[in-house]
Amino acid sequence: MPDQNPKDLIERAQKLLNQQRELYGSFDVDSVSISQTHDSSSEPENVQVAKNPIELIEKDSEEKILEDETTEAPVLLDLISKSSTLKELKGICEKAEELRTDLENTNLVFGVGNPDADLMIIGEAPGMNEDLQGEPFVGQAGQLLDKIMKAIDFDRSDIYIANILKHRPPNNRDPKPEERQRSLPYLIRQIELVNPKLILCVGRISATTLLGKDESLKNMRSKFHPFLERELMVTYHPAALLRNPQWKRPTWEDVLMLRTRYDKLGGQP
Ligand code: URA
Repeated sequence: MPDQNPKDLIERAQKLLNQQRELYGSFDVDSVSISQTHDSSSEPENVQVAKNPIELIEKDSEEKILEDETTEAPVLLDLISKSSTLKELKGICEKAEELRTDLENTNLVFGVGNPDADLMIIGEAPGMNEDLQGEPFVGQAGQLLDKIMKAIDFDRSDIYIANILKHRPPNNRDPKPEERQRSLPYLIRQIELVNPKLILCVGRISATTLLGKDESLKNMRSKFHPFLERELMVTYHPAALLRNPQWKRPTWEDVLMLRTRYDKLGGQP
């Protein structure tokens, strides 16, 4: 398991503590510098140093978060971090009111694919079709995503697909900062449990949420970013490609780079 590695444990603990600090105010805990523990020897040359993903969420959301749930949140965080299978985590997500948006009666869209995948794709939030089927990327954008993956020799069943949000926002609006922040601990645990070698963020919302930097997609794409002892790449969202076909070429360049790195890292299959 990834959390048996001391470096992973320190990083995960630090992130969860940072989140508690944001929720409940400052408290004294000796912090361990991630940079001190990060082994960069196997990194590709074109990497950028990621900040704590929790920090990426806009500050104006801080007071709004879990105002009425001051005693429940630490228990929930503990439960999330102790979940040892995707099934267990999914069970926690099913009961988690904080993962819901203001659209009522939506279905949980947890994630789908190979639970041991070496490549994990992370989108933004479920749309109508995903909500109805309880599966990410099954609509038009999902079909294009499947084609892009096929072009670099991946079947949908080879990879694992999830979103920043696990419930559909109303009118397919962008996920709010506080919604992203509430979902993040669940997603981070999901990433740890799948334990992919590479993560592909499709779209700016996904990338900025995980990388903790408020940059344009253009600036973030075409390179590998270190993320939780893994590497993360960013490219255009397939829905954006449907509206802007001129971005198909850079996306193709990105996914070719991704496939080459995947093979170099010994990704299976
Ligand atoms: N767009 C996303 O970001 N995720 C989905 O699951 C579907 C569309």
